[in-house]
Amino acid sequence: MNIGIIVHSKTGTTLKFSEIIAARCRKKGHTVDLVRLKTDRPVDSGSVRQKKNFSLVNNPDCSGYDAILAGGPVWAISASPIIIAFLEEQQSISGKKMLPFVTMGFPFTFMGGRQAIKLMSNTAAGKGAIVLPGKIVPKLFHNYRALMEKAAEEIANIL
Ligand SMILES: Cc1cc2nc3c(=O)[nH]c(=O)nc-3n(C[C@H](O)[C@H](O)[C@H](O)COP(=O)(O)O)c2cc1C
Repeated sequence: MNIGIIVHSKTGTTLKFSEIIAARCRKKGHTVDLVRLKTDRPVDSGSVRQKKNFSLVNNPDCSGYDAILAGGPVWAISASPIIIAFLEEQQSISGKKMLPFVTMGFPFTFMGGRQAIKLMSNTAAGKGAIVLPGKIVPKLFHNYRALMEKAAEEIANIL
């Protein structure tokens, strides 16, 4: 399967998670591209509830992928506005599998993780994607590296 992992990561945590997912998927024989989203200006904070004040400069064409894994940090108790911009601007995810994943600072998934996965899932579903169950990795009080490994294995198994 041809897989595109598209990620927003400000400080590198979600990028690390993406790299672990990519490695697991490649081990299963899949072809994987990993693309880190870039914006036309630095975006250090923000919320999906605010008006967008940036543009994506490398919104990848996903038409060649069978599955798209979209990841980002939790921001302001929801999804990162940058990964939402990617999903909203996509013209080519209809009929494809889409699996959302997030990392978060707070320890409990109700502190933004679940809200982020829900918004990412609904946005992709609105574009006609076949949405798979998302993955949340919280950091505080967790061995989050181990959680990433476990989630990556589960992702590779359900694709
Ligand atoms: C602007 C901003 C808002 C954040 N809001 C939340 C939040 O609402 N809930 C949470 O658990 N973590 C929040 N965090 C923490 C990040 O989700 C967490 O550190 C994440 O792992 C960072 O991923 P990254 O290194 O890929 O950027 C926030 C971080 C930033 C910079």
